[in-house]
Amino acid sequence: MTALCQRERKQMDKIIIEGGGRLEGEVGISGSKNAALPIMAAMILTAGKNTINRVPQVLDVTTMLHLLDDLGGYTEEFEGGRIIFDSTDINNYEAPYELVSKMRASCLVLGPLLARLGKAKVSLPGGCAIGARPLDLHIRGLEAMGAKIRLEQGYIYGEAKRLRGVRYYFDTVSVTGTANLMMAATLADGETTLENVAKEPEIVFLANILNQCGAKIKGHGTDFLIIKGVQSLKPINCDILPDRIETGTYMIASAITSGNVKITNCLPQQVEALTMKLRQAGLIVEEAERSLRVISNGQFKGVDITTHPHPGFATDLQAQFMALMAIAEGQSIILETVFENRFMHAAELKRMGANITIQGRTAVVAGVKQLSGAPLMATDLRASASLVLAALAAKGQSKISRVYHIDRGYSAIEQKLYMLGAKIFREK
Ligand code: EPZ
Repeated sequence: MTALCQRERKQMDKIIIEGGGRLEGEVGISGSKNAALPIMAAMILTAGKNTINRVPQVLDVTTMLHLLDDLGGYTEEFEGGRIIFDSTDINNYEAPYELVSKMRASCLVLGPLLARLGKAKVSLPGGCAIGARPLDLHIRGLEAMGAKIRLEQGYIYGEAKRLRGVRYYFDTVSVTGTANLMMAATLADGETTLENVAKEPEIVFLANILNQCGAKIKGHGTDFLIIKGVQSLKPINCDILPDRIETGTYMIASAITSGNVKITNCLPQQVEALTMKLRQAGLIVEEAERSLRVISNGQFKGVDITTHPHPGFATDLQAQFMALMAIAEGQSIILETVFENRFMHAAELKRMGANITIQGRTAVVAGVKQLSGAPLMATDLRASASLVLAALAAKGQSKISRVYHIDRGYSAIEQKLYMLGAKIFREK
């Protein structure tokens, strides 16, 4: 069965949760989706056999691999979290609408294709559930580097004999924008300085891996990147870092279910903002070098959060945190500053009995004693995670449909929660 066909089948799946139980035990964190996707796109910059380990088994990774194969590469192995991919023969420069519309992160191939082949035709992703999410910053940056870009019939057409180093300022901090331009600049002629760049751990990771392949990048983890172009890069060989959003999701799962869960194989320093907020709410978070434990007696108070680019509170954990605040004691104010439309989970949480008022980018959550199970509809990846968490804490049964959203980014979520004691199963 093809990946796309599997996806269509999965669209029908439902997750059923019998709520009210306590989660206990240990859960291991998978490799990060948002680190794996740019690293996979970076393979375009190389010509040879790339090996990536600890890749999460999620739909977005399958989609990216499909796209890379379409571009002329060859996946020799994708099993047990390992990808072996031969990028020698990449010669096609088109990322079609069918793939880009399924996963916006496909736009990560734009910079690498221009740098490697001097040409790219990448579909515009269009609007998405959490906001308009344009690509203007990616496009302007590549134009500044000398690429001729035109938009036609829903596609970005780019051409450049060889990109050249520039100084470019991002009006807004953009994670994939930073990744795209950083990758393009590694093979450009001369030095590129990127200002107001993303400092997400996934960006720092990408820079480190590119440097291992021979790139000359400095400043990652700060607001400036300085990249000296080189002639070629060696193939990638790396292990993907743990997923901080999955880590945060299981931390909240323990908190919301009066649980006691140890989260292993994670990097606690990457979820500091969440840890502080959980402690402020009255929960116990114990940190070790590569593990965390969250202990909850079900009593916690409402605290306010504002989402920001890293190291601020991650927008990708906002929906899950809202589920927690829905049953906190007192009120919580949640301000979403990264995306303009990332409160779609609120309507579903309200159907479970939550008391949430939305005004623009602000949600006021007045904690209720208990949520009740309901039929629910997932609208995007993190919104679905928030519904799963709410359903774990709710009284009675919840049936969540459109779970392909959750399959895009969470590896084996129902197995992992089941092992922690959740009454959860998938209806095919
Ligand atoms: C990345 O998306 C992540 N995706 C998202 O993860 C995450 O929510 C987001 O960063 C913010 O942390 C991947 O890493 C694959 P942005 P990205 O460009 O790069 C505006 C998840 O759930 N903007 O940093 O697409 C944009 O509209 C997800 O795993 C422009 O205006 O996000 C937004 O308001 C979904 N013009 C803000 O910047 C541009 O050209 C930040 O977006 C680009 C972005």
